[in-house]
Amino acid sequence: MSLKRILTLGIETSCDETAAAVIADGKYILSNVIASQIDLHQRFGGVVPEIAARKHIEAIFPVIDQALLDAGVKLEDIDVIAVTYGPGLVGGLLVGLQAAKSLAFALGKPLVGVNHIEGHIYANILAEPDLEPPFICLTASGGHTDLLHIPEFGHYEILGRTRDDAAGEAFDKIARVLGLPYPGGPQIDRLAKAGNRGAIDFPRGLGGEDTFDFSFSGLKTAALNYINRARQMGEEINLPDFAASFQWAIVDVLSAKVIRAAKEKGAKQIILSGGVAANSSLREKVRTLADPLGIGVLVPPPVLCTDNAAMIASAGHFKYAAGHAHGWDLNAFPNLQLE
Ligand code: KG4
Ligand code: ZN
Repeated sequence: MSLKRILTLGIETSCDETAAAVIADGKYILSNVIASQIDLHQRFGGVVPEIAARKHIEAIFPVIDQALLDAGVKLEDIDVIAVTYGPGLVGGLLVGLQAAKSLAFALGKPLVGVNHIEGHIYANILAEPDLEPPFICLTASGGHTDLLHIPEFGHYEILGRTRDDAAGEAFDKIARVLGLPYPGGPQIDRLAKAGNRGAIDFPRGLGGEDTFDFSFSGLKTAALNYINRARQMGEEINLPDFAASFQWAIVDVLSAKVIRAAKEKGAKQIILSGGVAANSSLREKVRTLADPLGIGVLVPPPVLCTDNAAMIASAGHFKYAAGHAHGWDLNAFPNLQLE
């Protein structure tokens, strides 16, 4: 006799990816469909919320259909519907929520709202199904940079977060000024590989040991000043050196704080999540610092680091298993924080 698997449909529309996924038992990906709008937003140098919302409306049901098709299941087979309800762009969130609520209502299935940041944490469960807390988690992406101690699933101790820009935002803003396409993080990561990270000494915001918070606005200003000065002087910027030095200023601070947090909390496992966790230098640096201390480092594959619905389905599955579900009045919370 085979035990029935619990199937969760996840829906994610918080930014510029329309995504749907079906996962089994919270840990196993049956399908993971991501329709990216990046091409549309590239010519504006960043995400335009109104365009994003409209595109989500067009894409949401085809993407859900594709996720069901890829998973080889029917809508009626789904047990739980999980959807991102914040943080993110309100127009996009509302599209995902409306789709999720309509389906859940029509099918008589439970609806679970998921915090997008919590979703990023669960991307690690999909990458490593046996993963057990406690661990230190850095979630860094275009909208958030949070350093967390997770003693058990569902329990988040916030050690620090950014006081201004998110790490990914800093990457994107500076890349844009350099004329690189959106999103800037992968572009800078690529250029940096051929550069000298010691070429330019950029500031480390809140780089000291007295806080786990981050600040990237000083770095952003210093990088802008560097670019403007070079342009005024008619000097060519060495892009690989600039990218490597700029990236290093971010990676240096992120990695040092993650390691200090692990030491302070006695954690033997670090997990990285969010789009910036796809950064090759960050992955390498955290591993290099953690290895000699006997601390494990888990980073999901890049496709699970950036926005996707499998991570939302995973977080939703475990929330539902812990007895949480939402009513039809579930609303979008653009500034939702982890608690
Ligand atoms: O998690 P995500 O897909 O969306 C948000 O929730 O924001 O993260 C997107 C962010 C963007 O700022 C992008 O530039 C950054 O992650 N990113 C990277 C890399 N890949 C994506 N930043 C640095 N290096 C990368 N390889
Ligand atoms: Zn994200």
